[in-house]
Amino acid sequence: MTDIDATAMRSDLCGRLGPDDAGRAVTVCGWVDRRREHSEHLAFIDLRDHTGVLQCVVDGARDLRSEYVVSIAGTVRLRPEGTANPALSTGEIELHDCSVEVLSASEPPPFPLDERTDVDETLRLRHRYIDLRKPRMQRNLRARAAVNRAIRRAMDAQGFVEVETPMLIASTPEGARDFVVPSRKEPGSFYALPQSPQIFKQLTMVGGVDRYYQIARCLRDEDLRADRQFEFSQLDVEASFVERDDVLGFVTKAVAEATVEVTGRDPGNFRRITWHDAMERFGSDKPDTRFGMELVELTPIFADTQARVFQAPCVKGICLVGGAEALARSRVDELVAACQRWGAKGLAWMRVVNSPDSIGSALDGGVAKFLSSAEAAAVIGALDARPGDMVFLVADERRLVRHVLGLLRLELGRPPVNDGSFNYLWVVDFPLFEALTAEGDPIPSHHPFTMPHDDDLWKLMSADGPPAGEELLDIRSQAYDLVLNGWELGSGSVRIHRRDVQQRIFEVLGIAPDEAQQRFGFLLDAFRYGAPPHAGFAVGLDRLAALLVGEENIREVIAFPKTQSGADPLTEAPSPIADAHLQELGLRVVPPA
Ligand code: AMO
Ligand code: AMP
Repeated sequence: MTDIDATAMRSDLCGRLGPDDAGRAVTVCGWVDRRREHSEHLAFIDLRDHTGVLQCVVDGARDLRSEYVVSIAGTVRLRPEGTANPALSTGEIELHDCSVEVLSASEPPPFPLDERTDVDETLRLRHRYIDLRKPRMQRNLRARAAVNRAIRRAMDAQGFVEVETPMLIASTPEGARDFVVPSRKEPGSFYALPQSPQIFKQLTMVGGVDRYYQIARCLRDEDLRADRQFEFSQLDVEASFVERDDVLGFVTKAVAEATVEVTGRDPGNFRRITWHDAMERFGSDKPDTRFGMELVELTPIFADTQARVFQAPCVKGICLVGGAEALARSRVDELVAACQRWGAKGLAWMRVVNSPDSIGSALDGGVAKFLSSAEAAAVIGALDARPGDMVFLVADERRLVRHVLGLLRLELGRPPVNDGSFNYLWVVDFPLFEALTAEGDPIPSHHPFTMPHDDDLWKLMSADGPPAGEELLDIRSQAYDLVLNGWELGSGSVRIHRRDVQQRIFEVLGIAPDEAQQRFGFLLDAFRYGAPPHAGFAVGLDRLAALLVGEENIREVIAFPKTQSGADPLTEAPSPIADAHLQELGLRVVPPA
């Protein structure tokens, strides 16, 4: 027993009792997990609290049903020889001589609480307060609290100051849609809810805070996915007089401590890769490095090829070990179709076989007949393929090849989320702009306050004016991401604190000075009064907690999440508001067309 477990109503927690407690008189409280009749007068009641389940032998046919809340006083004893239940932590003991007090009755629950039954998501969320009683949810919520606890400890130890920033603000530039709140005092005006505390944390740097952090709630109106909710939490960090590697160090420490706190395991090295290498080797800016199957460059092999399929600016391939036998023809056809959905013209596949003259390997099937023997040998060599393997090649524009093969690699090789390994990876040197719009305007990879890479700054700041079009895409930035098992866990950057650089970025982005002033004027004004060099980061805590407990959807680590469609079946939000309320806010609802 732990002293803090005892309250005025109970002496112990169910799951913490064990053989050493035999003979003790105890009182436990909780929910009736299960009731089994033993004889006409005796029933076994499995009592559940957040620590586990305890078997209680109850005399007399009391009206005790599932999910009743009861207090049971009795004496701990070892179960009779041969009746221990090794599946339970309390399986060697039971409570006997019990007296039971019903504290609260329960209607039959709308779904069973065992982990085996697959319950409809909406039903679970409508009765989330029941769903949360499940051991899995209890474990997840506690793991999440452990993440926050470890993070606070680590940030505190590194001299960071927790500062709260407002929820009712002007728009922040994270690239998603804002949730807005109408102003009553100023009808027709709106606050935005923060997509992140980005601008405020930079202002704390101008304000001399030096090292800021916050476990910040962020809101973004975007389509929900397994790793995306409207509302989520970030470990939000900013520090002054630092360079990139200082920030990586601060965040590594916090994330490593959270990993140890939840899993008890050493998170291993946080390796680093440049964005460019990640794209070339894994076809993704968030590579899942738990497995190999890297993308291999084959372009030079096909420089003078006769095979029309491979007459393209870029050819890359991957090798699926054992794939020749493992993949049925129908599965291969599915993969070809998937690659076409992802944008490729096709997917070339070939089996690796023992060569007919039985020296070495050869390619067979698929497009093999189009390759010269020298090309086939070079492909086999480059992919390090062995007989029995299957190789897959895509030829196209470089970006497309990387994208498609990156997805194919995941499709063929990705281990399950909860395989128990944690592969943290820093991806550094992101490009400043990720793409051009149809009009040729660049789209920032991170946000417009991100500092260009030192070695590329001159290109941007050239006295002849900035580069344009495709050349812009070659400019690297000082932005970096943290990736865990193929999930983007967080992003950050060194910020621009120089006005001339910031103005140049706005110019390149096509943001006119008056528009910049209108959107971010308060930040630009602040920078006129002495802005220290600063840099920061934000870790998605929902994602971190989910991966640490092996959940595939961040909903499972959020107490009250939204459904896929963004609704809350529990409170029935979103819902209409009264006309009077609308009027007060100066709003009129236009019925959907
Ligand atoms: P960014 O927009 O990349 O960066 O967000 C940082 C991290 O927050 C998490 N995240 C989400 N988690 C759940 N649901 C969502 N809808 C969602 N959106 C983002 C991700 C992501 O990596 N202000 C910058 C950081 C900085 O520059 O310091 C920012 O918010 O894990
Ligand atoms: P086709 O000549 O279009 O019939 O294609 C022959 C084979 O090559 C098919 O298996 C296609 O899926 C594949 N293929 C076609 N275009 C490409 C490409 N750009 N990259 C890789 N494979 C391709």
